[in-house]
Amino acid sequence: ESTTELDISALEVGQSIKAVFRKQPVFVRRLTSNEIEAANAVDVDSLRDPQTLAERTLPGHEELLVVMGVCTHLGCVPLGAAEGENKGEFGGYFCPCHGSHYDTAARIRKGPAPTNLAVPEYSISDTTLVIG
Ligand code: FES
Repeated sequence: ESTTELDISALEVGQSIKAVFRKQPVFVRRLTSNEIEAANAVDVDSLRDPQTLAERTLPGHEELLVVMGVCTHLGCVPLGAAEGENKGEFGGYFCPCHGSHYDTAARIRKGPAPTNLAVPEYSISDTTLVIG
């Protein structure tokens, strides 16, 4: 059992960072208000893996999206966390291996992945994100 601690004070709105949690990539994104609106505008019942943004974030921290950077299809690392990378058709993350598109809540919207990008256990204290 190990945790990953990240200082998120410098994470700007619209920016993502990649980190490592238990030897796997993890993506942390501070969502813009447009990204939050886009996520909340979706009819949840229409989703393959129905979850609201609120269910995928901490109370009071809906703008901070923390997900494993592991495609739920066959485990490739999706794009979209680094500057200029393809975020896919739904503005979240895109897995180039077989074309899975994730939205701004990292929910699967198109392509073969069966489920949303996984949300790890985490907590926030002040400007520190503790994963695990
Ligand atoms: Fe991501 Fe297949 S591993 S789409």
